Amino acid sequence: MLYSTFWSPGSIRLLFAVKAFLTVLLFTSFLRAFQPARPVESRSRPPPITTYINPQTTTYGQITCLAPPSPALISRSESMRRTCRRRSPFSKAIKRSSPRVGVASILIDNTPQPHLQAALRTHQLHGLIQSTPLHILRNKLISGHWNKEAFLLSILYAETLKPASTRLEWIFWTDSDTVILDPCRPLSTFLPPGPRMVGNETNLVISRDAVGLNDSVFFLRVCSWSIDFLTAILAYRYFRPDDHLWSGEQAAMEILAAEPLFQSYVQYVPQYWFNAFPLGEVGDYLARDKEQAGAMEGYKARRGDFLVHFEGHREKARALTEWTSAFEGLGSVWERRGNGTGVQRDVTREAKRFWKERGY
Ligand SMILES: *[C@@H]1O[C@H](CO)[C@@H](O)[C@H](O)[C@H]1NC(C)=O
Ligand SMILES: *[C@@H]1O[C@H](CO)[C@@H](O)[C@H](O)[C@H]1NC(C)=O
Ligand SMILES: *[C@@H]1O[C@H](CO)[C@@H](O)[C@H](O)[C@H]1NC(C)=O
Repeated sequence: MLYSTFWSPGSIRLLFAVKAFLTVLLFTSFLRAFQPARPVESRSRPPPITTYINPQTTTYGQITCLAPPSPALISRSESMRRTCRRRSPFSKAIKRSSPRVGVASILIDNTPQPHLQAALRTHQLHGLIQSTPLHILRNKLISGHWNKEAFLLSILYAETLKPASTRLEWIFWTDSDTVILDPCRPLSTFLPPGPRMVGNETNLVISRDAVGLNDSVFFLRVCSWSIDFLTAILAYRYFRPDDHLWSGEQAAMEILAAEPLFQSYVQYVPQYWFNAFPLGEVGDYLARDKEQAGAMEGYKARRGDFLVHFEGHREKARALTEWTSAFEGLGSVWERRGNGTGVQRDVTREAKRFWKERGY
């Protein structure tokens, strides 16, 4: 009786199954013990190519020394977001966060460059406030500055494969030596509102400086035109090897943007909208009064401008460090009282008028 309750046919089968399993386990571990050790690199997992640093920031490549936003940055973004909604004229746009714009940049620093990482944090802060995703290339794809076009293409491909209702509508490209001056301002300020009534759509929004087209900061629409345009830029050297490209890919972009196939889709906008250059030190920017600011050349950064760009700056590392650390303790330009306050230029209405005049 005892036998039949304890050792029923079912439990005997189970016993045999367990025994067989243990035998196989013993046998395989025995085999493994006599195998030559595999080299370390094949056993460790390869480093990830795409790293989500937070919902806003994705890095591409294997250089990983990019700190995720610190708790301090996140809490600053939360309080700044409240200020932006209360004090800046952008509260509606921040709530809607439309159209969907992503930010793309490149930061290849095999030895960390703290001033560029600090500049990038101003974009991270802006991204956290505006809920815009940030894509950062961390490894070289191809030679020289042509990485920009190659990386943008990879983002365009990935976005184009998504359903139209979730993909990005625009990509905002910024070189890594730029600092956001007004994180309250949504990127939609600079973009054509809605579809165009007549003529070809605007797919590239870019500015000229004293030299010509400056492709350090620009907006590109997520569409097949942009894929064609970037592909043409990348192919330029091979199909027109005799042309002199005085500034590499930037010259290729400028030449192609002026050709009949592309021209009507390109819109040049005033440089100070999103590509202002600094005049003097950050202390000057903060201390200047409206009259002094008004006397500067148009493309020089003043309070209320969105971004300042340190291209060609003779002491770039020092300047970027000073400008970024000056803003770390400051509130939004829309709420500051006392010295260093007061918006000296606000392009919102100008931009609205600009697009209206062009059929939007
Ligand atoms: C629209 O673009 C095409 C090239 O894609 C060009 O041939 C045409 O002239 C453009 N139309 C206008 C109104 O500019
Ligand atoms: C953008 O403009 C600045 C100032 O004119 C110039 O120094 C720089 O070379 C331009 N950008 C590029 C990528 O050439
Ligand atoms: C404001 O700045 C000016 C010039 O830099 C300075 O003379 C003045 O004392 C400052 N005022 C305050 C309240 O900080």
